Amino acid sequence: MDSKTFKGINIPGGKALPDLPVHVAVIMDGNGRWARKRGLPRLAGHRAGVRAVKRMVTACGELGIGYLTIYAFSVENWMRPKAEVRGLMRLLGESVIKEIDELDAKGVKVVVSGRLEDIEPAARRLLMDGVARTAGNRGLVLNLALSYGGRAELVDAFRAMAGDLSRGRLKTDEIGEDTVGRYLYHPEIPDPDLIIRTSGEHRLSNFLIWESAYSEMYFTRVLWPDFDRKELLAALEDYRGRERRFGRL
Ligand code: FPP
Repeated sequence: MDSKTFKGINIPGGKALPDLPVHVAVIMDGNGRWARKRGLPRLAGHRAGVRAVKRMVTACGELGIGYLTIYAFSVENWMRPKAEVRGLMRLLGESVIKEIDELDAKGVKVVVSGRLEDIEPAARRLLMDGVARTAGNRGLVLNLALSYGGRAELVDAFRAMAGDLSRGRLKTDEIGEDTVGRYLYHPEIPDPDLIIRTSGEHRLSNFLIWESAYSEMYFTRVLWPDFDRKELLAALEDYRGRERRFGRL
């Protein structure tokens, strides 16, 4: 078996090639524009966005990528019109119900990052059931950023840190970058190697602001619902050609 196959995908044993990213994070932008171009309601764009997530999970799993973080709903997204927020929450619950068996069968471990207390109870319960059910899986880790904000994550980390300081569990002079990292939502997940943003925007939009310090960024004009395996391979090919120096020479 050829363990170097990449464009044809087929990577035996789920082993990543050495120069593929371990952690890919995605800002899935353009669902609304995709729907508008077709004269469809915005929610149809989000539904097509879920299908694109499915393609992405399958491809990342086959390539042996370790972690996939998707920006599914930001803290700022709560300010969208009520009907869209309600539609997205319903879609979230429906998607968990519909996809969890297949995710579990593929060995995907689902985790969630964000202020989950803001998510309505029914969708939250479904999500947490999915997280519990897949907790022992050893395949791709799918990190759903939900009610997520990079600054909110840091505020939550600093609050927890302040609590430990006041209880004497942490000393001020012990605080270093590693300490901050330990208080983030998922300290066990390595920083993203590659962040992809679709739809032609060139912003981080409050996504993984601590964790992205040395991430490579890939921007494409493709709208998220049109992002497929071919687009992912193009992003990975671009990433593989980069020289990562982490501030060194
Ligand atoms: C950005 O497109 C996308 C979102 C705000 C939500 C992304 C959600 C999914 C792909 C579905 C999976 C997640 C849930 C919560 C079910 P946009 O609406 O900002 O597009 P636009 O910029 O073209 O208007």
